[in-house]
Amino acid sequence: MTFAPRPGDELTIGGVSYRVEGAPTGGMFAYAQEGRQGIVYKLSTGVAGAGSTAYALKRYDEPFRTQQLVALTQRLAGFASSPGLVVCRRVLLTPGTFDDILVLHPDLSYSALMDWVEGPTWMERVVARKPLNDDQSGVIASAVATTLAAVAKRGAAHCDVSGQNLLLPVLAARATNGRYPIEIVDVEQIYAEGWPKPDLIPRGLPGYAHRDSAKGQWGPGADRFAGALLLSEVLGWCVPGVCAAADDESYFNQREIQQACDRFRILYSALESRWGKPLAGLLDAAWRSPSLAGCPALEEWRREIVAAAGEVTPSVGTRSEPPTMKVGEAQALLADAEAAVQDGDIPAARQSYRLVANHASEGELRGSAQFRLREIERHYGAADEAATGRSPEPRSTVRVPAAGQRAPTPPRPASTAWESTAFPVSRPPRDTRLQRLAGIVLGAGLALLGALFASGDLVVRVEDQLHSLGRVAHWTTISVLMSAILGLVQTWVFRPRLSIPGRFRFGIAAAIGGLVGGLVGGLVVAAPSAEQTLAAALTGAVGGATAAYLQAMAFREPGARHHWIAWMAVTWLVSWYLAVMLTTGLQTIPATALAAGIITAGVGVGIAAFLYSARHVEF
Ligand SMILES: Nc1ncnc2c1ncn2[C@@H]1O[C@H](COP(=O)(O)OP(=O)(O)O)[C@@H](O)[C@H]1O
Ligand SMILES: [Mg+2]
Repeated sequence: MTFAPRPGDELTIGGVSYRVEGAPTGGMFAYAQEGRQGIVYKLSTGVAGAGSTAYALKRYDEPFRTQQLVALTQRLAGFASSPGLVVCRRVLLTPGTFDDILVLHPDLSYSALMDWVEGPTWMERVVARKPLNDDQSGVIASAVATTLAAVAKRGAAHCDVSGQNLLLPVLAARATNGRYPIEIVDVEQIYAEGWPKPDLIPRGLPGYAHRDSAKGQWGPGADRFAGALLLSEVLGWCVPGVCAAADDESYFNQREIQQACDRFRILYSALESRWGKPLAGLLDAAWRSPSLAGCPALEEWRREIVAAAGEVTPSVGTRSEPPTMKVGEAQALLADAEAAVQDGDIPAARQSYRLVANHASEGELRGSAQFRLREIERHYGAADEAATGRSPEPRSTVRVPAAGQRAPTPPRPASTAWESTAFPVSRPPRDTRLQRLAGIVLGAGLALLGALFASGDLVVRVEDQLHSLGRVAHWTTISVLMSAILGLVQTWVFRPRLSIPGRFRFGIAAAIGGLVGGLVGGLVVAAPSAEQTLAAALTGAVGGATAAYLQAMAFREPGARHHWIAWMAVTWLVSWYLAVMLTTGLQTIPATALAAGIITAGVGVGIAAFLYSARHVEF
């Protein structure tokens, strides 16, 4: 009889009773994940709910259901203690030993029974285009790199690294305390020295295959290219522009792999801006490499990721209570906490975040609450626990290296108990970003000043032309030109967070703001007894608020929108006012140059202040 189980069916395997689990969507179908070699079912033992343990039963299709699986299963056991390779520990349903089930379902012969891994696949996350936060990206990348580098260190390779073979217990809806953050499945084609070559050699999965993989990727360096892309995707996934630019089931389309393309540029600059040059450099090196062996080793990735993001370390005995708070309740508390931060009521915000961090049933909500708590701690300092009587935060399980210092290699876990509920990774220091921003804005201001001085004649001629158009048109044109320059600076600063269409929108929004502000200011200037400084202040305020309002539509964080609009309206107002006030009475060329410099630098300071005050902004 063909094996076609229904939810709730009882299977007796080796004298143990298992229940077939239903599909997560409910209904009359069993949970069944179809892969390329067979189907994976979900079984469980014990009473449904609290005490049950879940298992995966992989039933191989005919050509793969061979006796060779017996020896393979024994060899795989040698990898089972490596973090992230729990599925290497498996029991094979061999005839003779498991006849109780095989008599009823002969097509389950040589099926593999292993631990069930909770959580979505990376491919599901990519398809959903759902971003990660920085800490999630860091912890997942750190764990994947650790697992792949450990395999490579043994001279081995997984050989079929891809988004569908990476599972993410760290993002599971059900709590997975004590588990390693990631697991890599589909281990049947692992390469190791002396192991027999499989009949079917993997050629890499679409979106992850090197040019060279067409010859077959089964050898010591087989994971280097696919690993590089998978790690880059994960690291880039906390940068919204990357998510939006993804192809479909993988970030890259196989056709564009190793070609010059926008997706590569977006991912490269995301890595560079969020995690630093060394990691972007590794992606670049893999992308350009003519062979799999020429790609950077996975140990290099591991080292750089640990240096940039911290490392996941084992922690035993820190399991927290099972989380029970419903999603809606947790979301409402997060909104309250956000409002409390805006109102400056930090103790209230801390309390709400803590409740969600400790009790939300949804892993992601817990993660984002923990992330906000750490942001608050950085910004306002740690809470006085003794005074409030609340229990302290669970300690971070990551040792973050000091600047310039490499973290030591993590000790091997004594068991599979890993802390994964906290997303325990640090981010590049905010100050570096602010310094970079100040550099860019000052540079842009100075370049503008220089350019205007150098083209003295041109400035005078353009000014004359504009004068002849009348005061309103004159003022409006200058406002639009100035705003377009500001839009360019803003787009440059935020480019890693903006998709390509988003960048255009951002720049065009600035120009539209300039047009609206310029018209308002122009009408004031054109009026009898016109006040130039009043016109300037109005141009700035209206232009800044309009531009920022249009740009803020691209923000994913509603809280940040108000910050952005307020900061931009105020800084454009002050910059325009100062620019006109300080340059009145000067000659055309120095007046234009100085005014442009003041406005660019002023708005730059506004962006820096915004980044500082709305630290969690994502758009
Ligand atoms: N141990 C497991 N726990 C949970 N899901 C699993 C497990 N093993 C496999 N899966 C799911 O089943 C899918 C197919 O399994 P896989 O071993 O990759 O088969 P194939 O070799 O046919 O691709 C995976 O992409 C994953 O979603
Ligand atoms: Mg697979």
